[in-house]
Amino acid sequence: MKLHIAVLPGDGIGPEITQQSIKVLKAVADRFDHDFYFENAVVGAAAIDSVGDPLPEATLDLCKKSDAVLFGAIGHPKFDNNPDAKVRPEQGLLRLRKGLGLFANIRPVNTYEKLLDQSPLKRERIAGADLVIYRELTGGIYFGEKSTAEDGKSATDTCTYSVEEIERVAHLAFKAAQQRRKKLTLVDKANVLETSRLWRKTVKEVAQAYKDVELDFLFVDNAAMQMILNPTQFDVILTENMFGDIISDEASVIGGSIGLLASASVGEVSAMFEPIHGSYPQATGKGIANPVASILSAAMLLDHFSLNKEADIVRRAVEISIQMNVCTQDLNKDNHYSTSKVGDFLEGVISDPDNSKIN
Ligand code: IPM
Ligand code: MN
Repeated sequence: MKLHIAVLPGDGIGPEITQQSIKVLKAVADRFDHDFYFENAVVGAAAIDSVGDPLPEATLDLCKKSDAVLFGAIGHPKFDNNPDAKVRPEQGLLRLRKGLGLFANIRPVNTYEKLLDQSPLKRERIAGADLVIYRELTGGIYFGEKSTAEDGKSATDTCTYSVEEIERVAHLAFKAAQQRRKKLTLVDKANVLETSRLWRKTVKEVAQAYKDVELDFLFVDNAAMQMILNPTQFDVILTENMFGDIISDEASVIGGSIGLLASASVGEVSAMFEPIHGSYPQATGKGIANPVASILSAAMLLDHFSLNKEADIVRRAVEISIQMNVCTQDLNKDNHYSTSKVGDFLEGVISDPDNSKIN
């Protein structure tokens, strides 16, 4: 298969982790005779520094004409610490999601036997946890009208959802549930928010077309608690933009490191693959960042194009690396590997057709 992949490494550790995903994808292409073409573009603080815009026109154009986008990370402390900054790196990512129409963000969370004791949560609570969050990505409070009063004494963010915005992500979440354990939990705040009441009503209607899926509802505050108390109860979680942002970071604690969590953002036409973690500025250039979240995002890219066997091999290689303790320091304090050494190891496993563990 021929695939044109736009690579947006972004800020902080973005470039070094993305580099490892490219290694892995090239190994997959070699082994399975695919043609993957990579083309880089700037985004985020890196783009503000070079052209004054966190999402230059040329970057959006490249993403639009590519089959998929591989995204690194975004954000820089010089903007976080300056509330008056008008141009911010995060705007690049939000405009990209909107510009490409990526309305659904899919974030799988699972555990590895070897890492069960890495999580601050007790092994018996998290063993077997296997859930996926469907986060609405182009609506809600992230994209509503915003303003700050002229006197600077008040500010407003608006949260709006339309039935259509809810329906399209709900359909994807129900379809995913049908392929999994057939349970869908809508996370909302319907006891307080009007938009959440619209979510409940709409999702109940959509559920009529998926009678084999059990639907339940949780208020987001309770969901945050349940995620820690009993994460194995969840199969597919469907939720709006900001709740999904928050509970997915929370859910990353289950696996033992946020450096493991991948995501796919999809729309009608485009698709983008990015780790859920941020740009980890303190680690930039030190070779300590975990590349696995980005590499598993690359596996989701392969799945997106129905290259399921290839995606399975990447996931299997990651399992082997964890099993053999070939991990960065977030997972292995005593004898850790660098970001690029983990990438090299995975590349080696994937390239070796005689590797009995993987065939
Ligand atoms: C994420 C990130 C982004 C978000 C930021 C960087 C804008 O936290 O992808 O989860 O809030 O969506
Ligand atoms: Mn986030």
